[in-house]
Amino acid sequence: MTKILIDCDPGHDDAVAILYAARHLDLVGISTVYGNQSVEKTTRNALSLVTLLGLDTPVARGCEAPLTRVLAHGGDLHGKTGMDGAEMPAPRQDIVDAHAVDFIIEMASRNRGELVLCPVGPMTNVALALKKEPRLAGWLRAISLMGGATQIGNTTPVAEFNIWCDPEAADIVFRAGVPMWMVGLNVTRQVGVTDADIDRLMAAGPVARAFGGLFNFFISRLREVHNLNSASLHDPCALVPFIVPELIGYEECPVEIALDSGLTRGMTVCDFRRLTSKSLQNIRAKAPANCHVATSVEGRKLVEHILNAIVSWEDGSMPSTTV
Ligand code: RIB
Ligand code: CA
Repeated sequence: MTKILIDCDPGHDDAVAILYAARHLDLVGISTVYGNQSVEKTTRNALSLVTLLGLDTPVARGCEAPLTRVLAHGGDLHGKTGMDGAEMPAPRQDIVDAHAVDFIIEMASRNRGELVLCPVGPMTNVALALKKEPRLAGWLRAISLMGGATQIGNTTPVAEFNIWCDPEAADIVFRAGVPMWMVGLNVTRQVGVTDADIDRLMAAGPVARAFGGLFNFFISRLREVHNLNSASLHDPCALVPFIVPELIGYEECPVEIALDSGLTRGMTVCDFRRLTSKSLQNIRAKAPANCHVATSVEGRKLVEHILNAIVSWEDGSMPSTTV
């Protein structure tokens, strides 16, 4: 079973990613970072979530601010707690006695060649880990992230929130030479929970009802702020290549991060041009074609598969990984 470490900022959709990974993969660790809320709140949310799910997955607390730019939370899209909409249990476990940066390095060292690192928040922890331990890039099997977009952004017209929070960190990660899978808004916005899906969750067991409450809050905020009519399951999409790979299509291409301070700051510039080998050097992308970028998805099938993982959590039945 694929070993996964999720670096996250819970966050409604981060919470779904944790359940989805625990249901279908070997979730060896969780590290937290600022983003949807302060790192204090995202860490408490991660601890409450593992308690709700009855997991003993180690949780390491991470960075509270970006590498360089000024800290900017996701506002209150996820509410004052970062996971408004459900009464979450008091955490039954504490964080591990290591900073997330050191925890990521340690878990990759223990699982050399096997560990897939899944950043689904700002990539500050991951960038610092790659800088602190140069061998980390060679120890990781892959990095599969939720972030960026091939078309429109959310935090700005062209930048997606996780990249926008810390473009310098994203640039370090994309240049590290680790095999990369990137799923951006162009795909994740097609993977949305509807009101009818929420009704299904509210009619199921306590864990499903908790997620129904979370989605109820999240869908109302997305309607208000982004005029959307479903609760996008952004973060669990980063796990799909290792659970149901047939549901998301990827194309390999160079990806560069715009680091300027202007309109395009935080943009993921994906070069889908198919230049010939004779193309002029000066028109080629500066980054290696080391990234699989998500370009298509069977959105409804994926929503169903994720909902099945939530609804079946109670009875412990193991939903199939076929769809
Ligand atoms: O832009 C979507 C991303 O920002 C998701 O990871 C969500 O949790 C927020 O962190
Ligand atoms: Ca997130």
